Formats: sequence, structure tokens, C-alpha cells
Amino acid sequence: MTGRTKISWLVAAVFFGSVVTSVCATDAKHKWLKFFFDGVPDDTTNRAAVTSNANPTPAEEVTAPSTRPVSTEPEFIVHPPFIKHECAECHEAGGGQSLRQKPPQLCFNCHKDFLVGKKSTHQPVVDGECMDCHDPHQATVKKLLLKKPTVICLDCHDDLAKKKVVHQPVGDGECLDCHNPHASDNKHLLAKKDTVICLDCHDDLTKNKKVVHQPVGDGECMDCHNPHSSDNKHLVSKKPTVICLDCHDDLAKKKVVHQPVGDGECLSCHVPHASNNKHLVAKVGATLCWDCHDNFLQGAKFTHDAADDCFACHDPHQSGEHALLKKKPADLCMDCHDQKDLAQVKGHANAGAKTCIDCHDPHVGKDKNLLKGASKK
Ligand code: HEC
Ligand code: HEC
Ligand code: HEC
Ligand code: HEC
Ligand code: HEC
Ligand code: HEC
Ligand code: HEC
Ligand code: HEC
Ligand code: HEC
Ligand code: HEC
Ligand code: HEC
Ligand code: HEC
Ligand code: HEC
Repeated sequence: MTGRTKISWLVAAVFFGSVVTSVCATDAKHKWLKFFFDGVPDDTTNRAAVTSNANPTPAEEVTAPSTRPVSTEPEFIVHPPFIKHECAECHEAGGGQSLRQKPPQLCFNCHKDFLVGKKSTHQPVVDGECMDCHDPHQATVKKLLLKKPTVICLDCHDDLAKKKVVHQPVGDGECLDCHNPHASDNKHLLAKKDTVICLDCHDDLTKNKKVVHQPVGDGECMDCHNPHSSDNKHLVSKKPTVICLDCHDDLAKKKVVHQPVGDGECLSCHVPHASNNKHLVAKVGATLCWDCHDNFLQGAKFTHDAADDCFACHDPHQSGEHALLKKKPADLCMDCHDQKDLAQVKGHANAGAKTCIDCHDPHVGKDKNLLKGASKK
């Protein structure tokens, strides 16, 4: 008796036992019976389940096994060397179930070594645990997988979708949208570079926008997002009130800090990805300020010519001066006003130690000279 026949008989015995004691003869078992015992009649109810792998071709000749008939029934996938009775390709010739070599080497006798030279490799694959995911003989799931590809990864990675907000493809188990199961030229088994992988499905974040936030343009999505799940809205990897400070930690350092900046509410004024506005501001100019401040320009009798250019006088984030002023009030006013002109003004004759804003409102007034006595903005 050859080694191969010995195994066949051994297996046949095992299977015969299990089949006769079983109440329901499944398709699978029918196949087993037919495989090991000549004369088992065709199960005519199940012809559609036969796949093209019933006429296997050698590995090296097969390029794209994509011509399998489309069927709503579970297809029965059979490993070509198994159905061809090439048991001894994998099992010891002496009989028994023991393997003649350890995976992955065993498998790489026929399959190209897909681990060699890769930047990242999957630990169970390296360890030869192919059978954690594949059946070496046959399966009802394509690629001889033990389970559907949408659930197979969760056997060992069940903690990725636990947070409040789950990324849709992750929740759907579409790990293979982003990962290779075995090995990759990119880190973390990613199917593409981490700087482009997100753009496959999100290519519209910066489209037609004049100003692009540098980390977004560079594809560094993971600087701010978790690709799987997060406790924060929109999969942001840290609380939105601290995420920006990772790279911009110098905006709340001075004596006077604008309250929303101190609170980390950058997104009340900025968009995170791209904008048509300079500096990624959500709205242009003073309209940004009216979200939180009463619009004192509206309905004012007299308005300082420069008043709607808030940033001529204020820093939006912080300042060493009160009221977020860019400079000391006296110097600030002299950016646009000339000492020579001011000296000719009657009201300035006895100004003494008073500063401009002791007498003038910087924004609006009830008289044309914006005098504080007369004004209340
Ligand atoms: C004697 C040669 C041989 C050995 C050894 C072998 N295979 Fe295969 N395998 C094939 C052939 C031939 C095919 C069909 C062509 C192809 O997909 O490459 C195949 C296909 C596969 C497929 C894809 C099935 C499909 O539906 O597309 C998987 C998965 C697979 N083998 C896993 C393994 C694993 C795991 C091992 C090691 C335990 C292994 N193979 C060892 C020859 C072999
Ligand atoms: C592509 C390689 C390969 C081929 C070809 C192959 N086997 Fe296996 N077989 C395996 C592997 C791998 C295991 C699992 C070993 C383990 O998990 O430790 C296995 C396990 C078994 C077992 C143990 C029970 C089970 O199903 O886990 C039996 C019995 C068996 N094979 C019989 C056969 C017979 C009979 C043939 C030929 C018709 C055959 N095998 C062809 C790789 C192969
Ligand atoms: C963590 C699970 C897992 C492990 C472990 C694993 N595979 Fe796979 N393998 C997969 C998945 C998932 C696919 C299907 C990929 C797809 O459809 O794109 C696959 C596909 C394959 C294919 C078909 C290749 C193709 O592109 O069609 C072969 C061959 C294969 N695996 C061999 C192996 C071998 C050999 C080992 C062990 C060295 C192994 N696999 C270990 C999950 C795994
Ligand atoms: C049998 C258990 C098992 C299964 C099934 C499994 N993995 Fe893993 N995976 C591991 C182990 C072990 C590690 C290495 C330790 C770690 O990082 O947690 C790992 C690591 C990873 C890594 C990180 C690799 C790196 O370099 O950072 C990714 C990505 C990954 N697995 C994806 C998948 C995908 C996708 C699937 C389904 C196709 C899958 N895993 C199925 C056990 C498994
Ligand atoms: C939208 C793309 C995408 C999908 C879908 C996806 N991942 Fe990931 N995964 C990534 C990226 C990107 C990284 C690298 C993260 C980094 O650089 O910090 C990663 C890293 C990992 C890691 C290693 C680091 C870690 O966070 O533990 C594992 C393990 C992992 N993924 C498993 C899975 C599994 C399992 C699934 C399916 C349930 C899955 N991934 C689905 C993109 C994805
Ligand atoms: C395979 C397609 C696909 C890929 C690749 C992909 N996404 Fe998504 N993503 C989706 C879908 C689908 C949604 C849900 C619908 C929507 O909001 O557009 C989504 C939503 C999101 C959301 C919003 C979640 C929410 O709750 O508002 C963020 C953030 C996100 N993805 C980030 C990423 C990042 C980062 C990557 C790269 C690691 C990535 N996506 C890669 C398909 C994908
Ligand atoms: C600088 C941090 C940062 C970077 C880098 C970043 N994002 Fe975001 N992203 C955010 C924040 C913050 C939100 C939430 C915005 C909100 O709350 O209105 C968000 C929201 C999203 C959303 C959901 C809402 C929307 O605008 O559609 C998607 C999708 C998204 N990001 C994808 C990506 C992708 C893809 C990349 C990489 C190209 C990326 N992000 C890079 C910070 C960032
Ligand atoms: C990973 C680092 C990083 C994170 C996180 C980050 N940024 Fe940036 N940001 C940059 C870099 C780099 C630049 C360009 C150089 C510069 O102006 O400092 C920039 C520039 C900016 C600009 C000026 C853009 C322009 O065209 O003038 C704004 C506004 C901005 N970031 C807002 C934010 C906001 C809001 C957040 C949080 C949602 C954030 N940044 C998170 C790195 C980051
Ligand atoms: C009250 C609105 C507002 C808030 C809140 C705000 N910004 Fe700004 N930011 C602006 C405006 C307006 C500009 C442009 C100023 C100009 O045109 O001179 C700007 C400019 C910037 C710039 C580019 C110029 C510079 O000063 O470096 C960066 C970077 C920036 N902001 C980051 C942030 C970050 C990070 C936060 C949160 C910590 C934040 N901003 C909070 C309104 C705001
Ligand atoms: C997200 C809400 C918000 C936005 C938008 C906003 N502010 Fe404020 N601002 C505040 C809060 C809160 C305070 C502190 C309470 C107060 O004085 O009203 C404040 C205070 C100020 C102060 C007084 C600071 C001090 O310490 O005396 C100035 C000046 C100021 N804001 C200017 C602006 C300008 C200019 C804009 C438009 C670029 C703007 N703010 C947009 C919320 C906002
Ligand atoms: C010509 C310079 C200048 C311009 C332009 C300007 N401010 Fe002011 N702002 C000041 C000065 C000076 C103060 C301090 C007034 C004081 O201490 O009496 C001030 C104070 C404030 C305060 C603190 C509350 C208060 O009234 O004391 C807010 C809020 C404010 N400005 C908002 C704005 C907004 C919004 C704009 C744009 C629409 C703007 N400012 C334009 C100079 C200016
Ligand atoms: C960004 C330029 C700019 C700054 C800074 C500026 N002004 Fe003016 N101011 C003007 C212009 C333009 C006019 C109208 C033409 C003129 O009279 O010179 C004006 C006019 C005035 C008037 C006369 C009222 C009117 O509408 O004709 C007063 C009073 C005044 N400014 C006070 C101040 C005070 C006080 C400061 C400092 C807090 C200041 N200005 C800072 C540009 C500026
Ligand atoms: C003691 C109060 C007082 C101080 C301090 C003061 N002003 Fe005036 N300013 C006035 C009065 C009153 C007028 C009314 C016009 C007049 O008397 O001819 C006036 C008018 C003006 C005008 C309008 C002149 C024109 O030609 O119509 C400007 C501009 C002006 N002041 C700017 C300033 C600036 C800038 C400062 C600070 C360097 C300043 N003022 C400091 C009281 C003051």
C-alpha cells in the first residue's frame, strides 16, 4: 500500500464513522462520500454547488481564478491538491495525518512566498498558522476561508470597533478594504501607503479649495483620526478641544487669551481640512466674531472707518495687552493716524496723560468723533 492510499483509507474510516452517525447528510458530506467511495450517486439537487475547482489546474498555471460561476448557494471551494488526491504533497508518506513539513514552508512549495521582503507581516501568517483562517482541504467560503472575510478578523481583533463612533467600513467588517491579510510593503499591513489609503473613499475633502491644512494635504489623516473607532465625534482621535494643540501649542501662552482659544474651541472659527478662506477660517472677517459677540456695528450712528477690520487691532488668539490688542493702544492708533494731523485737533490741546481710548471709542459712536462721553456701543 502506498502512503497515499493508507491515508485515504484512514480518512475514509474516520469519515465513514462520522457520516453514518450523523442525522443529516449535508452537501459537504455527500461530497466526502463521493470523494472516498466510488459509486456514490450524484446529488442532483446540488449540481450548482460544484465549482470550477472541481477541474483543478496546477498553481503555476492559474493566474486569476475569477471565472467561478455566480451562485446564490454557498459555493464549495476545494483545494486543487486535495481533490487531486495529492495528499502526500502535504502529509507524511508513511501515512497518518502528520504533515511532511511545517507551514508556511509547506504551503510555499506551491505558493509564492508572499512574506519575503515585505515591510510588515502578519504574525499568525509568519508563525505558519495558516489554518487559523484557511481550511487546507475545502471550504464553503471563497479562498478556502474558515469564515466569511467580514468576520474572520474579529476572532482575534474584537476590540477595534468598541468605541462610541465606529468607522462604517470597520463596522461592516471590511478590513480588507484597507489591510492585506498576509503581508504588505506598507506598515500595519496596509494595502496602500497610509497617506493615500483614506482618499480611496474620501477624495472630496480638499477638492477645489484654495487653502489646504498642511497635514491634510500631506495625507496625515491619522494625526487627527483613528481609522477604526473613537469615543469622539467624527472619529477624531483625541477630544476636539485638545487635538489641535498637539501641533499648535503656542497660541494660548500670553497674558490675555481669547476665551474660545483657551478652551480649545478652535473649530468655532476654523475648519480642519480645507477652505477657500485664508488661514482656514470658517467665515471671513467680522462675520466670524458675530457668532458670539453682539454686532455693535449694526445700527451704529457713526462707525470708525477701520472698525470692521477687527484684525487690524485685535489678535484672534492671544495678546500681552488687554482686549487682545495687537499693540499698546497709543501705538495701535498711530499705525493709521499721524501725529502731525492729531496735533491740529482742538480737542487734543489739553489731552495730558490721557490715552486715545480714554476719550474715543475704537469701534462706534453717537457723534462723528466717536467720543466716549457721547458714545455707548
Ligand atoms: C501541492 C501544491 C499546493 C500546496 C502544497 C498548497 N497549495 Fe494552495 N493551492 C494550490 C493550487 C494549485 C491552488 C489553485 C490555484 C491558485 O489559486 O493558486 C491553490 C489555491 C489556494 C488557495 C486559494 C483558493 C481560492 O479559492 O482561490 C488558498 C487559500 C490556498 N491554496 C492555501 C494553501 C495553504 C494554506 C497551503 C498550506 C497549508 C497550501 N495552499 C498549500 C496548490 C497548493
Ligand atoms: C495542501 C496541503 C494538504 C493536502 C493536499 C491535504 N492535506 Fe490533509 N491536512 C493538511 C493540513 C495543514 C491539516 C491540518 C493539520 C493541523 O491542523 O495540524 C490537514 C489535516 C488532515 C486530517 C486531520 C483531520 C482534519 O481534517 O483536520 C486528515 C484526516 C487529512 N488531512 C487527510 C487528508 C487527505 C486524505 C488528503 C488527500 C485527499 C489530504 N489530507 C490532503 C494539509 C493537506
Ligand atoms: C489572518 C487570516 C489569514 C491567515 C493566517 C492566512 N491567510 Fe491566506 N488569506 C486570508 C484572506 C482573508 C484571504 C483572502 C484575500 C482576498 O480575498 O483578498 C487569503 C487568501 C489566500 C490565498 C489566495 C491568494 C489570492 O490572492 O487569491 C492564498 C494562496 C493564501 N491565502 C495562502 C495562505 C497561506 C499559505 C497562509 C499561511 C502561510 C495563509 N494564507 C494565512 C487570510 C489569512
Ligand atoms: C488567529 C488570530 C488572528 C486573526 C484571525 C487575525 N489576526 Fe491580525 N494579528 C494577530 C496577531 C497575533 C497580531 C500581532 C500582535 C498584535 O499586533 O496584536 C496581529 C496583528 C495585526 C495587524 C497589525 C500589524 C502591524 O504590523 O501593526 C493588523 C493590521 C492585523 N493583524 C489585521 C488583521 C486582519 C485584517 C485580519 C483578518 C484578515 C486579521 N488581522 C486576523 C492575530 C490575528
Ligand atoms: C479605513 C481603513 C481601515 C479599515 C477598514 C480597517 N483598518 Fe485597521 N488600520 C488602518 C490604519 C490606517 C492603521 C494604522 C493606524 C496608525 O497608523 O496608527 C490600522 C491599524 C490596524 C492594526 C494595528 C494597530 C492597531 O490599531 O491596533 C490592527 C490590528 C488593525 N488595523 C486591524 C484591523 C481589523 C481587524 C479591521 C477590520 C475589523 C481593520 N483594521 C479595518 C486602517 C483600516
Ligand atoms: C472603503 C471606503 C473607505 C475608506 C478607505 C475610508 N473610509 Fe472613512 N468612511 C467611509 C464611509 C462609507 C463613511 C460613512 C459615510 C460618510 O460619512 O461619508 C466614512 C466616514 C468617515 C468619517 C466620518 C465619521 C463620522 O462619524 O462622522 C471619518 C472621520 C473617516 N471616514 C475617516 C477616514 C480615514 C481617516 C480613513 C483612512 C484611514 C478613511 N476614512 C478611509 C468609507 C471609507
Ligand atoms: C488636523 C486634524 C485633522 C486632519 C489631519 C484630518 N482631519 Fe478629518 N476631521 C478633523 C476634525 C476635527 C473633524 C471634525 C470636524 C467637526 O467636528 O466639524 C474631522 C472630520 C472628518 C470627516 C467627517 C466630516 C467631514 O468633514 O466630512 C471626515 C470624513 C474626515 N475628517 C476625513 C479625513 C481624512 C480622509 C483625512 C486625511 C486626508 C483627514 N480627515 C485629516 C480633523 C482632521
Ligand atoms: C499634526 C500637526 C497638526 C495638527 C494636529 C494641527 N495642525 Fe494646523 N497646521 C499644521 C502645520 C504643519 C501647518 C502649516 C505651518 C503653520 O502654519 O504652522 C498648520 C497650519 C494651520 C493653520 C494656518 C493655515 C494657513 O493657511 O494659514 C490653521 C488655521 C491651523 N493649522 C489650524 C488647525 C486646527 C484648527 C487644528 C485642529 C483641528 C490643527 N490646526 C491641528 C499642523 C497641524
Ligand atoms: C475666535 C476665532 C478663532 C479661534 C477660536 C481660533 N482662531 Fe486661529 N485664527 C483666527 C483668525 C481670524 C485667524 C486669521 C487672523 C488674521 O487674518 O490675521 C487665525 C489664524 C490662525 C493660524 C494662522 C496664523 C497664526 O496666527 O499662526 C493658526 C495656525 C491658527 N489660527 C490656529 C488656531 C488654533 C490651533 C486654534 C485653537 C487653539 C485657533 N486658531 C482658534 C481665528 C480664531
Ligand atoms: C466662539 C465664540 C467667540 C467667537 C467666534 C469670538 N469670540 Fe471674542 N470672546 C468670546 C468670549 C466667550 C469672550 C469672553 C467673554 C466676553 O468678554 O464677552 C470673548 C472676548 C473677546 C474680547 C475681549 C478679550 C478681553 O480679554 O478683554 C475681544 C477683544 C474679542 N473677544 C474679540 C473677538 C473677535 C475680534 C472675534 C472675531 C475674530 C471674536 N472675538 C470671536 C467668544 C468668542
Ligand atoms: C481700530 C482698532 C480696533 C478695531 C478695528 C476693532 N477693535 Fe475691538 N477694541 C479695540 C480697542 C482699543 C478695545 C479696547 C477698548 C477699551 O479698552 O476701552 C477693543 C475692545 C473690543 C472688545 C472687548 C469688549 C469691549 O468692547 O470692551 C471686543 C469684543 C472687540 N473689541 C471686538 C471687536 C470686533 C469684533 C472688531 C471687528 C468688527 C473690532 N473689535 C475691531 C480696538 C479695535
Ligand atoms: C487700520 C487703520 C486705523 C487704526 C489702527 C485706527 N484708525 Fe482711526 N481712523 C482710520 C480711518 C481710515 C479713519 C477715517 C479717515 C480719517 O479721519 O483719517 C479714522 C478715523 C478716526 C476718527 C475720527 C472719526 C471718523 O470716523 O472720522 C477717530 C476719532 C479715530 N479714528 C480714532 C482712532 C483711535 C482712538 C484709534 C486707536 C484705538 C484708531 N483710530 C486707530 C483708521 C484707523
Ligand atoms: C482728551 C480727550 C482726547 C484724547 C486723549 C484724544 N482725543 Fe482725539 N479727539 C478728541 C476730541 C474732543 C475730538 C473732537 C474734535 C475736535 O475737538 O476738533 C477728537 C478728534 C479726533 C479725530 C478726528 C479729527 C478730525 O480731523 O476730524 C481723530 C482722528 C482723533 N481724535 C484721534 C485721536 C487719537 C489717535 C488719539 C490718541 C493718540 C486721540 N484722538 C486722543 C479728544 C481726544
